[in-house]
Amino acid sequence: MENLIRIDNLHKSFYDGDSELKVLKGVNLEVRNSEILAIMGASGVGKSTLLHLLGTLDRPTVGNIYYEEQDITAFTERELTRFRNEAIGFVFQFHQLLPEFTALENVAMGGLIRKSKSVKLDDSNSLNIGGVYETAEHLLDSVGLSERLEHYPSQLSGGERQRVAIARALINQPKVVLADEPTGNIDDKTSESVLDVLQDINERLNQTFVIVTHDSRLSARAHRTVQLVDGRTGDKEK
Ligand SMILES: Nc1ncnc2c1ncn2[C@@H]1O[C@H](COP(=O)(O)OP(=O)(O)OP(=O)(O)O)[C@@H](O)[C@H]1O
Ligand SMILES: [Mg+2]
Repeated sequence: MENLIRIDNLHKSFYDGDSELKVLKGVNLEVRNSEILAIMGASGVGKSTLLHLLGTLDRPTVGNIYYEEQDITAFTERELTRFRNEAIGFVFQFHQLLPEFTALENVAMGGLIRKSKSVKLDDSNSLNIGGVYETAEHLLDSVGLSERLEHYPSQLSGGERQRVAIARALINQPKVVLADEPTGNIDDKTSESVLDVLQDINERLNQTFVIVTHDSRLSARAHRTVQLVDGRTGDKEK
């Protein structure tokens, strides 16, 4: 399998006045195309920090991140925003769905925003809003929620919300989906259904996932699991 992402000597420190908190201390890691990579490690070790750097939501202190051999750490803010919208899907544990919008609207939103940015203002006919909604409906169908299109987040169970979040992450056909504890606050049975969906999307669409988790059932379904220990990764091949 070819590499999609290559992380080279990644360091991240947080500064508070004169004191430096060194969180990542030289992470080297490759993410292969079409794999599910699980990242595990103790609380506070820097898993979410690593995911934020991968997602271009924050910049490393030292080191480089290459997507298909392109060094994204050299990008300007503007280039990063564009890259993030086009190439990365996010599934985070909290604050993910917009409460005033239906499941369908939540999933479609990222696609509509992307389209509206890619056309000129006087070119509104080419927005093809229908196409985005069709795709969103299809994605919700593929996560088993075709009966929940018009439901609002407050009307959905935790597992259903998480599946909407997964569908939403897929709308722009990202190169990678980054997920932070996708089964973190849901019960065992519901977690299984979320895991089924992740695995199904991976197998059918060859979608690459990088998933931070404490859940050993999730890492059991991953192609590889990496342990983050003391700011570095130890690769545990399966
Ligand atoms: N923006 C920030 N400013 C200062 N310190 C931060 C910031 N973000 C994270 N940290 C610190 O960096 C360390 C790693 O945090 P991170 O959230 O990456 O841990 P984690 O491995 O995801 O933990 P958990 O499993 O509990 O979610 C922690 O000590 C945290 O307090
Ligand atoms: Mg975390």
